[in-house]
Amino acid sequence: MLQNSSICVSTTLKRRQIWASSVILVPYSKHHVPKYNQWMQNEELQYLTGSEPLNLDDEYQMLQSWTEDTNKCTFIVLDRSQYISLENLSNEEREIISMIGDVNFYIVDNEIAEAEIEIMIAEPLARGKGFGREAVLAMMHFGYEIVKIQKFVAKIKMSNVKSQRLFSKHFGFLEVSRSNIFEEITYESDLTKDSRLGQLFAENFIEFKLLD
Ligand SMILES: CC(C)(COP(=O)(O)OP(=O)(O)OC[C@H]1O[C@@H](n2cnc3c(N)ncnc32)[C@H](O)[C@@H]1OP(=O)(O)O)[C@@H](O)C(=O)NCCC(=O)NCCS
Repeated sequence: MLQNSSICVSTTLKRRQIWASSVILVPYSKHHVPKYNQWMQNEELQYLTGSEPLNLDDEYQMLQSWTEDTNKCTFIVLDRSQYISLENLSNEEREIISMIGDVNFYIVDNEIAEAEIEIMIAEPLARGKGFGREAVLAMMHFGYEIVKIQKFVAKIKMSNVKSQRLFSKHFGFLEVSRSNIFEEITYESDLTKDSRLGQLFAENFIEFKLLD
């Protein structure tokens, strides 16, 4: 357990790929922005993720802010088997074709090492295949092991039963509050206590690869 220290996610910590069985997480970068921006024009995704629609210029600025801010970390989720099958293309082309969503966390309290986690599988055909579950688990594993996050919080719309099931049933998050104004439920998992997440980290394959 961390004591008397403050966490942050430096640029160096973000410079890595995270490989899991069916997904690869790569740092959100310029070449991902046009496709990401196109996803975020979808009103349902805006509502479910609590996002505002941005034009392309604003999206590039948002990328810069996420890259520089040491409280934020965003990875793009790639379909691993598709990425591997595209070996004749450049790395950027392979990533753009195989990108299916994003996963991010935002450190809300550096002293107690608490972060809010968000997942989005934006490609409709990629949903319901286990990618979301694996991507968010890999991201929390990275947050716990590399950034030393001790507590994860997820804010989920009351209508979003899929995501509620994912966090409560699969990851053992507990409901801590509800907001009728924001139409959302707040869940948390505290890794300093007996947590299902710790067990899942131990059971699921993951590899961290440092980038140049
Ligand atoms: C919610 C979301 C992340 C789930 O990712 P996914 O890849 O589609 O889901 P997975 O295949 O990994 O399934 C994980 C669990 O989600 C739940 N789930 C997935 N699809 C579901 C469906 N059609 N109906 C009900 N529950 C579903 C289930 O609990 C499932 O596990 P189970 O089938 O073993 O019970 C994804 O659908 C998504 O991004 N949706 C739009 C944006 C969003 O809602 N983001 C979350 C904001 S907090």
